[in-house]
Amino acid sequence: MGKMERFPFIVLVAGLLFFLFADFVSWALPMFVLKDIPMKKVSDLAAEAKAKNTSAWADFERLAASYPEQFKKYYGEVNEESFAKALKIGHRWYVAEGCWNCHSQMVRPVSNETLRFGIPGVSNTVSYPSEFQNELQAPVLWGTKRIGPDLIREAAVHNIDWQVAHLYNPESTSPGTNMPGYPWFFEKDEKGNIVPNERGIGLLTYIMWLGSWEVKPTKEWALK
Ligand code: HEC
Repeated sequence: MGKMERFPFIVLVAGLLFFLFADFVSWALPMFVLKDIPMKKVSDLAAEAKAKNTSAWADFERLAASYPEQFKKYYGEVNEESFAKALKIGHRWYVAEGCWNCHSQMVRPVSNETLRFGIPGVSNTVSYPSEFQNELQAPVLWGTKRIGPDLIREAAVHNIDWQVAHLYNPESTSPGTNMPGYPWFFEKDEKGNIVPNERGIGLLTYIMWLGSWEVKPTKEWALK
């Protein structure tokens, strides 16, 4: 075999090895990392929120107190079942409305993203595997574009009242934003006030659940 004939052969073998390596890194390795982390159901997430009394649970209670008529009509009481129902409905509408076209759900370990999307002192960590081992992240909602901010730590960023106003009309809280308003998540109550409807309460619960597992000083911080 001449020298030049050997060269393409080495490149071919190296190419195949790199291919196998990439394959290993992208599916086999994650499988090993995830194998001991339980895949949580929505009911597990609800039980956890209640047991730990997370900020998401407090926000759900706050929705029930602020919009009693709608809450009672669509969700009944504040309990694990109604919380799980709200999460499911919220997640479904987040997907259906294509929120993921403009928002990612992952704080990446590059470019100081923890400063930008984590909340220093409250949640200064990059995303980690167990955050995504649940039904609401199958398939994952990591997103590809960031026209708006990352949302995986949203519970620590704005309070629930801000979210209500922003969802109805983003311009009211964020002048100049290109996020569209979502008035079909709202309806009128008996007094004619504009209040979140079934899917609105669901979506708001879902948004405030994102990152609630990282929000340590819960409600007081979130309400500032
Ligand atoms: C066309 C792109 C676009 C779409 C679609 C979109 N958003 Fe946004 N969103 C933005 C932009 C830009 C901002 C930042 C300015 C602002 O506060 O409105 C934002 C901000 C937000 C914030 C506040 C984030 C923060 O930390 O300040 C939340 C929460 C949010 N969006 C939720 C949603 C939800 C839920 C949906 C789907 C129902 C959605 N967005 C759809 C562009 C979008």
